[in-house]
Amino acid sequence: MRPVRRPRMNQGDALALLRAAVPAADGEVWADLGAGTGVFTRALATLVGPPGRVIAVDRDATALEVLSARTVDGGPAAPIITVAGDVTEPLSLPPLDGVVMANVLHFVADAEGVLARVAAMLRPGGRLVLMEYEGRRPGPWVPYPVDAARFVELARDAGFTLPRVVAAQPSRFGGEIYVAVAERSP
Ligand SMILES: C[S@@+](CC[C@H](N)C(=O)[O-])C[C@H]1O[C@@H](n2cnc3c(N)ncnc32)[C@H](O)[C@@H]1O
Repeated sequence: MRPVRRPRMNQGDALALLRAAVPAADGEVWADLGAGTGVFTRALATLVGPPGRVIAVDRDATALEVLSARTVDGGPAAPIITVAGDVTEPLSLPPLDGVVMANVLHFVADAEGVLARVAAMLRPGGRLVLMEYEGRRPGPWVPYPVDAARFVELARDAGFTLPRVVAAQPSRFGGEIYVAVAERSP
């Protein structure tokens, strides 16, 4: 019998995952790196609220067009600005209070280099929220898996505090997705 695939994540699911990692972000400036079509960007925009700003970055301009065309559900939300860019290269962004990276770090060979760039974009104490697969073997869809134990090492070497896993849920592709938070060290 074929396994039953869980439904695709929606803004409400993304909000439930993010809430544990972003308890207070009212009026802040956040970026969603590797935003895709923006399911986490929209959830983040509701947590940041209208006085703040969310910058959605992706190297796929078509995904960003879809993101821009979609509306945010659930009341007042921060404006969303899209930026076409590659997270492995320098990005011209304002100083950030927080960064979300959901299902993107596993596409990057030099995860430590990218995390060092992210640390440099954050104010001291600024927050990185990472969503990645736990216990996944390398493969075409996840070439460079980053499980929670590896993220602890990568974050330390890139200048972050000790990450905390604040949420986890089964992935629709099997296994588990975890949500971890680390702050940029002062
Ligand atoms: C699996 S999707 C995740 C999208 C969204 N964060 C989510 O969780 O629904 C991965 C996204 O990362 C983007 N991506 C992969 N490598 C990237 C890079 N080096 N720079 C910027 N975006 C990248 C892809 O274009 C794609 O939109």
